[in-house]
Amino acid sequence: MHIHLVCSPTAAQGWQASLRASPRSLHITSAYGSLSEAQAAIKEDVPDILVVEARKPDDFAALQALAQDLPYLDCVIVGLQPDADTLVSLMRAGVREVLPGNPDGVAVAQAVERLARKKGGALRPTRKAKILCFISCKGGSGATFLAANLAVDLAAEGTRKVALFDFNLQFGDALLFISSQQASSNVAEVARNSERLDQELLRASMLEVSPGLLVLPAPEDPAAAEDVHAEHVRTLLHTAQNEFDYIVIDLGRTLNAVALQALDMADQVYAVLQLTLPFIRDGKRLQQIFTSLDYPPSKINWIVNRFEAGGQLTLHDLKRTLNIQHLSTIPNHYGVVADSVNQGVPVSRIAPRSPVTLAIHELASSITGQAPVDAGNAGIKGMLGKFFDKRGDGVSV
Ligand SMILES: Nc1ncnc2c1ncn2[C@@H]1O[C@H](COP(=O)(O)OP(=O)(O)OP(=O)(O)O)[C@@H](O)[C@H]1O
Ligand SMILES: [Mg+2]
Repeated sequence: MHIHLVCSPTAAQGWQASLRASPRSLHITSAYGSLSEAQAAIKEDVPDILVVEARKPDDFAALQALAQDLPYLDCVIVGLQPDADTLVSLMRAGVREVLPGNPDGVAVAQAVERLARKKGGALRPTRKAKILCFISCKGGSGATFLAANLAVDLAAEGTRKVALFDFNLQFGDALLFISSQQASSNVAEVARNSERLDQELLRASMLEVSPGLLVLPAPEDPAAAEDVHAEHVRTLLHTAQNEFDYIVIDLGRTLNAVALQALDMADQVYAVLQLTLPFIRDGKRLQQIFTSLDYPPSKINWIVNRFEAGGQLTLHDLKRTLNIQHLSTIPNHYGVVADSVNQGVPVSRIAPRSPVTLAIHELASSITGQAPVDAGNAGIKGMLGKFFDKRGDGVSV
């Protein structure tokens, strides 16, 4: 359903934010300025509902003139309260709601919702994506590799809709791990257009790298990171939550306002480390930060990447240091992972049966509660069980 706003830029910002939270599929456009200036464009692309900010009597006259050409247009007037006679003629001209004064975005969205319901506007499919944030305890831990490949798995050949956002804004490379395609937009570009962001614009800004998986990469220019603020992240994630089943975020390892906003909104955080002292030391620091942010331990998942049994430090040592009961492991497999990373192809395509692929499947299954969908992976759980029983380097410890 097409909603067109004619109002000041400030009003548009507040109204759009509330309209985006509508339970309906709304296509929202706006024009700044007076209705007389906006008339020609409205006649060319007639909306289902017009919301007009009327600040002077001329605006009522302009609306009546417009209604003569567009008899089926339904309108909401915001601002000036018409007198009784003018109100009657405005009702004839299609005005269905009058909101006097300076109502907030919620009141405008409620008025639009009442009209949309009468007009039979389609309800948006109700999705509420789970937000999964990947953070490296230390550079090079494998957070990007795991986030990107997990996102591929979660999409399960198009069975689910998954977004991969690269919030490693200065040196993000998540897209390169799973695709060699060029993206047309990036996180900074979307942030700059945050005021008019809706599901349609978001979809158009993202690159579909495999069925069901859309990626919004980091900007090419590290300086563009400055354009992204916490409120942009909030808008982006709220918009995406209505569109996707899962949102996977690669945070890199910078803890700035953007990262904290994403971490706050995350359902689950995946902290990736390796089983050596420098990683464990930084893992401990990260854990202290999570505690100071009041995140419950159940929100934090610890993943030991590049795990090899028999090292000097054990998983038990790590659990004791972090005072945790549970962590996951992803085995070390340099050749297969290097091939995947160098070719920009998901590891599950390069080596469907490699221990790394199977461990990522297992991680995905622990998130979805379902076995992997890929037909080639039928019975994967059984195989996994046997594999790890034999090797003794299980995924979940
Ligand atoms: N399980 C694994 N087995 C072998 N090599 C791995 C594994 N996981 C990751 N790697 C290697 O480690 C390298 C670094 O991984 P990645 O770029 O994902 O780390 P990161 O934590 O995102 O680093 P940064 O902090 O720089 O963003 C990869 O290029 C890959 O070759
Ligand atoms: Mg990375």
